[in-house]
Amino acid sequence: MSDFEKETQQRLREVRSNRRLVDDARAFTNSSIAAKYSYNFQWQGRPIIQYPQDIVAMQELVWAVRPDLIIETGIAHGGSLVLSASLLAMLDYADAATKGELLDPRAPRRRVLGIDIDIRAHNREAIMAHPLAGRIDMLQGSSTDPEIIEQVARAARGYQRVMVCLDSNHTHEHVLAELLAYAPLVSVGSYCVVFDTVIEDMPAGLYPDRDWDVGDNPKTAVKTFLSGHPGFVVDEAIEAKLLITVAPGGYLRRIT
Ligand SMILES: C[S@@+](CC[C@H](N)C(=O)[O-])C[C@H]1O[C@@H](n2cnc3c(N)ncnc32)[C@H](O)[C@@H]1O
Repeated sequence: MSDFEKETQQRLREVRSNRRLVDDARAFTNSSIAAKYSYNFQWQGRPIIQYPQDIVAMQELVWAVRPDLIIETGIAHGGSLVLSASLLAMLDYADAATKGELLDPRAPRRRVLGIDIDIRAHNREAIMAHPLAGRIDMLQGSSTDPEIIEQVARAARGYQRVMVCLDSNHTHEHVLAELLAYAPLVSVGSYCVVFDTVIEDMPAGLYPDRDWDVGDNPKTAVKTFLSGHPGFVVDEAIEAKLLITVAPGGYLRRIT
C-alpha cells in the first residue's frame, strides 16, 4: 500500500467518529431525497436517477472488478445503462491500450443488459441512438417474470465476470425476488448493488404515492436475503467513504 493509500485509509477510519460530518451527511440525505435531488443529473446526455456519490462508487467498483457483463434492472431514461456502458468501454479501451492494440468499436467485448417493465418509446429511441448503444441490450418485462429471468440467465452464459445492479420496483417482495433470481449470476469477487436501501432510514410516509416505505423496501429485502446467503456480505467500506448514498447496506460483495 502506498503512503497515499495508507493516509486515505486512516482518514476514512477517522470519519466514522466524526459525528458532525456523519450528521451533516445524514441531514443532507434526508432533505435532498425530499427535494428529488437524484433526478437532476445526466450521464453522457441521458438523465440518470442516481446520486453523484453512487456514480463515483460504481466507477471505482467497475474499475476494480473489471466485469464483462453488467445486468441492471430499472432502465427509466437510460442514464445508468449509459453509465455502465461507458465504464465498460473504458475497460475495453484500457485493455487494448495496455496491449498496444487499437480498440475495434464494432466488436464491443463488454456489455450491459437492462431490464424494465416499461421502456418508453422515446427513451428506447434515445438509448439506441446513443454512441454507446452498440454495447447495450434491453429486455422489456418485469424483472421477476420467470421468462425474463430465464432470458437473462441465458444471456449471462459465456461471460466470466458479472455484476448486477437492482433499481426497479423498490418493494421488499420485488427486490427479494430479484435478489433470488439475479444474485446467483454475480461472479465471486463481484457485486450486486441494491439501490434505494436508504428508504428504510428515511422518515415513514415520505413516498405516499409508492408501494414502498419504512419496513417494506430494498433494505428489508437485503436483510432477509443475507440471512440465507452467507456467500454475500455488505461492503461497508463503500458507504463509510461515500457518506451520502442511496444504497447504505446495499453494496453486496460476493465472497464465495
Ligand atoms: C428508479 S427508475 C431506474 C433508474 C435508472 N436505473 C437510472 O439510474 O437512471 C425505476 C425503473 O424501474 C422500472 N420498473 C418498475 N417496476 C419494474 C419491474 N417489475 N420490473 C422491471 N422494471 C420495473 C420502472 O419502469 C422505472 O423505469
